[in-house]
Amino acid sequence: MIAKIRDKAIGFLYRNFLKELFFLQDPEDVHDRMTGMGGFLGGNIITRNMTGVVFGYKNKILEQDVAGIHFKNPIGLAAGFDKDAHLTSILPKVGFGYEEIGSVTGEKCLGNPRPRLWRLKKSKSLLVYYGLKNDGCEVIARKLQHKKFIFPVGVSIAKTNSPDTANDEKGIIDYVKAYKTFSDANIGDYFTINISCPNAYGGEPFTTPEKFDRLMAAIRTVKSVKPLFIKMPAEMSFDIVDGMIEVARKHRVTGFISTNLAKDRNNEVIKDSGFPEVGGMSGKVVEDLSNAQVAYLYKRTRGEFVIVGCGGVFNAADAYKKIRLGASLIQLITGMIFCGPQVIGEINRGLASMLKRDGFANISEAVGVDNKA
Ligand SMILES: Cc1cc2nc3c(=O)[nH]c(=O)nc-3n(C[C@H](O)[C@H](O)[C@H](O)COP(=O)(O)O)c2cc1C
Repeated sequence: MIAKIRDKAIGFLYRNFLKELFFLQDPEDVHDRMTGMGGFLGGNIITRNMTGVVFGYKNKILEQDVAGIHFKNPIGLAAGFDKDAHLTSILPKVGFGYEEIGSVTGEKCLGNPRPRLWRLKKSKSLLVYYGLKNDGCEVIARKLQHKKFIFPVGVSIAKTNSPDTANDEKGIIDYVKAYKTFSDANIGDYFTINISCPNAYGGEPFTTPEKFDRLMAAIRTVKSVKPLFIKMPAEMSFDIVDGMIEVARKHRVTGFISTNLAKDRNNEVIKDSGFPEVGGMSGKVVEDLSNAQVAYLYKRTRGEFVIVGCGGVFNAADAYKKIRLGASLIQLITGMIFCGPQVIGEINRGLASMLKRDGFANISEAVGVDNKA
């Protein structure tokens, strides 16, 4: 009860004051400051525990084992917010059940020139054109090598955004380099191969079943027992999804993250106009596409693969919808930016009460219930 009032008060403060202030400033500057502050708060036990008191929420009904990993709750931070892994100590205290760092690439990359992040306020979306800015796999792996994580951490691997990796062979070598670096160093609980970044030099070459097969064959030359996920494009046709499922089966992929950013400018959910013709869109612009892919994958594979629902989750009802369509886990970024960091606790609390209301003893029982017929 007290925690509920606490979250309402923080939410009110965020929406009416902090967000107003943040939204007057350059979005990338705000993001960098938040990451810096998160790194500081995570840096010592006092500020970590204080953050836990302000944001924490726990409930057994949300705990589950997925792909051999124990998750205290299903809400994870999606790849792209914590690119260089500054936040692994603080995010569990903000209430996240897990996070995905990266995307990390074979070589350090400065990303595309600024500006490369815009707010589409009316559409409740972000236009993202970062271009895989990150410190590169060797620097990030060295930093994390001796770190003990207190919640599950996934490592998102992508291809360096450079003309040097635009050719397929070189692109594959780059993916394998980053995957092998993290795998050999035994960092993280699972891996994601991000084949769907809309902002990299050379586009998304590995989103056809044939090329995806070649990439996965190379990835599988690296010995690893950790779960492996694929980050899917939002607008992939279901015919192609069928082909991707076959390849994923062949290479013992654990699951799919549905989805990455949306690219289609004719999406009727878009309410803003006049924004640059680059990048991909997050948030409410991608929600229906994400839900449709979650539903399709679950219907086609019925629990054979783990499905992670990602796109447009702003509240507990949004998350619950994805779970009932077939997602075992959820990821988000944009909902937190538009609603505030207390939204993680609010979503978890809301999920727990919806699960109880609907007679489930554990979250795992609700996965796919609206999609069984
Ligand atoms: C600022 C930003 C950067 C992102 N960078 C990446 C990335 O590096 N790798 C990736 O797989 N997805 C990236 N994404 C996509 C998100 O992981 C996620 O798929 C998408 O934003 C939909 O979720 P949301 O609506 O909750 O934001 C990024 C998204 C945002 C907003």
